[in-house]
Amino acid sequence: MDIFRKKSLKILETNSSQLKKDLNLRDIIFIGIGAIIGAGIFVITGEAAASYGGPGIIISFILAAIGIGITALVYAELCSAIPLAGGAYNYAYFVLGEFFAWLVGWNILLEYGIATAAVATGWSGYLRAFLENNLHFSLPKALSGPLNFQQGTFIDLFAFLGVIVIFILVTIGIRKSAFVNNLIVILKLITLFIFVIFGLKHIKWENFFPFLPYGWKGIWRGASLIIFAYLGFDALATLAEETKDVKKTLPKGLILSLVITTFIYIAVSFTLVGMLPYWEYKGKPDALAYAMYKVNEKWVADIISIGAVITITSVMLVMAIGFTRVLYALARDGLIFKSFADIHKKFFTPYKASLIGGFFLSFFAGFLPLKVLAELINIGTLFAYFIVGVAIFIIRNNPKYKPGFKVPFPYIVLPINLLFLLFIMSGLPLDTWIRFIIWSFIGILIYFLYGYKNSTANIIK
Ligand code: ALA
Repeated sequence: MDIFRKKSLKILETNSSQLKKDLNLRDIIFIGIGAIIGAGIFVITGEAAASYGGPGIIISFILAAIGIGITALVYAELCSAIPLAGGAYNYAYFVLGEFFAWLVGWNILLEYGIATAAVATGWSGYLRAFLENNLHFSLPKALSGPLNFQQGTFIDLFAFLGVIVIFILVTIGIRKSAFVNNLIVILKLITLFIFVIFGLKHIKWENFFPFLPYGWKGIWRGASLIIFAYLGFDALATLAEETKDVKKTLPKGLILSLVITTFIYIAVSFTLVGMLPYWEYKGKPDALAYAMYKVNEKWVADIISIGAVITITSVMLVMAIGFTRVLYALARDGLIFKSFADIHKKFFTPYKASLIGGFFLSFFAGFLPLKVLAELINIGTLFAYFIVGVAIFIIRNNPKYKPGFKVPFPYIVLPINLLFLLFIMSGLPLDTWIRFIIWSFIGILIYFLYGYKNSTANIIK
């Protein structure tokens, strides 16, 4: 039994990409910001400040940015050397073998799948706030939050339905064009800019004290939660085949997208915790709009709600498409039930992967709170980054490996990357670890009972 069988790096010699190389630095940055900024800043910042960081959440954002910046360098190097779609899953398949590749794929599936659900709960929060404040329409309490008997909520109906609608759209093949993506990115930036400009007027300095109500531990745990806001940069790594002068453009694009995002996050989180005492954001998924309503900037709150709903819908769409494509790739390689790779005759989409996603993930969105979902995504994704971080040590010894961009000071930076990922993962709560272990265990079972036997690697041999 060889669970560490690998895809051969020879494929890089024969693979001449058919894709057009027309993405320049500006395109890469727009796509990057489009994938990175989403529910994290609009929804999780408030909860992270209330539960962990207090006003010090600004420091959590900086800490998370430094760590994710280092991981992005690792991705930049790998994608300049292995410019194939499939990103981290393929890196692991080439270097560490099938078992680890499967674990990476299984966790990326968790990332995209649960992220669709998580983002839907944020979307639902903003939508409810908008309807309540403008049309005086509110759902019955039981239908307006995740399962929580103490609070009298049973299901977050909008989130549940939102996921179903998104997967129907994905099934019929809706995609965003580059033009729509650019429009949404601009709308996103304008919405956050308006929030900061109007919010700054309402900052009260006393809200910044105590600055670290939960101590440094709170900063660390806050960073573990809000790292969610930076996820998505890895999507850029899959564009390597389509980028002009990829060796320079892609690393620059990755880093610049993260730098711009970090500045925006610092400005928004500073404004948010300055406007109201941090504890007021507990359990408020529509934190940015909520703050504006509380300081009587009603129309600003409405603009932010509409901007958030549109922006977050687009993130949901990207995540849902990502989910179906990862499931498709795993099924095509034979590692999970092959029917998930079946393509619809009319819509040309992996419709069975979409249907299964819509079915399960709507329940996650309807019944689980955002914080639980976000923490689960973080642990799975950071674990996948960790495997990639190990892979780069090994692949650097392979003579066929010729990256266009190299991580600077690798003897320092590469170990720091691994240590940082462990540090952030260990800041996540015990129940998240338990859920993660159960998820991994199910994945390992699927691999040994199904994937190993049905892998296309058996045929190639
Ligand atoms: N970074 C993405 C977001 O914040 C996942 O929505």
